[in-house]
Amino acid sequence: MLEQLIEKLEHTGRLDKAEYLTLIQHRKETRDELAARACKVRARYYGQQIFIRGLIEISSFCKNNCYYCGLRAGNVHAKRYRLSSEEIISAADTGYALGFRTFVLQGGEDPFYTDEILVGIVQTLKDRYPDCAVTLSLGERGYESYRLLRQAGADRYLLRHETADPAHYGLLHPAEMSFERRMQCLKDLRSLGYQVGAGFMVGSPHQTEENLAQELVFLRDFRPEMVGIGPFLPHHDTPFAKELPGSVEMTCFLLSLIRLTLPDVLLPATTALGTADPNGREKGIMAGANVLMPNLSPAHVREKYLLYDGKICTGEEAAQCIECLKNRIRKTGCEIVTARGDCARTVR
Ligand code: SAM
Ligand code: SF4
Ligand code: FES
Repeated sequence: MLEQLIEKLEHTGRLDKAEYLTLIQHRKETRDELAARACKVRARYYGQQIFIRGLIEISSFCKNNCYYCGLRAGNVHAKRYRLSSEEIISAADTGYALGFRTFVLQGGEDPFYTDEILVGIVQTLKDRYPDCAVTLSLGERGYESYRLLRQAGADRYLLRHETADPAHYGLLHPAEMSFERRMQCLKDLRSLGYQVGAGFMVGSPHQTEENLAQELVFLRDFRPEMVGIGPFLPHHDTPFAKELPGSVEMTCFLLSLIRLTLPDVLLPATTALGTADPNGREKGIMAGANVLMPNLSPAHVREKYLLYDGKICTGEEAAQCIECLKNRIRKTGCEIVTARGDCARTVR
């Protein structure tokens, strides 16, 4: 029965919610087989190549109050900073020399970054580095803003949906944030021709196994080009300070299921996974992930971008992280490459 479900998933990329749930409930028996098949499917599209993205954390200011995040506006102890356009370009210069061909500009929802400022940054990056992709991860913005940024040259946008269940969304966010608006943003981004990234935290408070099955159904149907998942990790100055962290084992298991559902998806082994377990990112790659997003932010701001406690790589320089990752990834049989690393679906 389990074997049949695994076969069906590999060959059709589609299970229904009850079938995903069955696999989740039997993860102990099925995870090795699913991981092996996920790596085989990944190789069909990407060989042994692992893409790297230079993550530039542009601002720790945020107007929102997500209950899980250390950058939430209500955290009066958070250290705040924002990078100037020049600092962002300079971080990209460092990254280019290290072999990065995608830059990810991520930050809290900080009204300081108007469309005009962001358009200027995106255009400068694309003029300077026409061979690179620019990814934005700056939360919810209006359609017109997304349109202007796309027109300026932004290629991709990461906006995790956080949960596919509206009731669960309401338990993770205050009333002024809305599940419908988040979903509308994802649709807008797609209609504007971005490669779109969705995703969620594994083990976020109140999440059930049913929720996880629902996540897989959502991803199966929405078919994002990128999916970011990582374990929820508590931050001491948030309403979820006392909640338990998400599991590394479950995260890796879900990475395999996502790879088999969306064979050509760009799937990072996230920093949260590397924080939850010293070998978390290697485990993620061995479960079917094919992207790493090392930190390119200037060293003096890194400690201030604290979404959760214990975040790794806050003391290292970008060059150190890249060397560290190359060594780690070699042990998995994969190899970090210098490439834009577009989704194989978009390239075909
Ligand atoms: N503000 C933008 C947004 O929310 O989309 C981008 C930055 S936000 C910090 C990026 C992601 O970090 C969120 O989508 C969320 O899933 C994740 N995150 C926030 N707090 C976290 C926590 N405590 N543990 C794990 N991941 C977390
Ligand atoms: Fe702000 Fe993003 Fe953190 Fe929510 S997850 S508080 S939007 S930085
Ligand atoms: Fe940053 Fe290992 S990846 S020190």
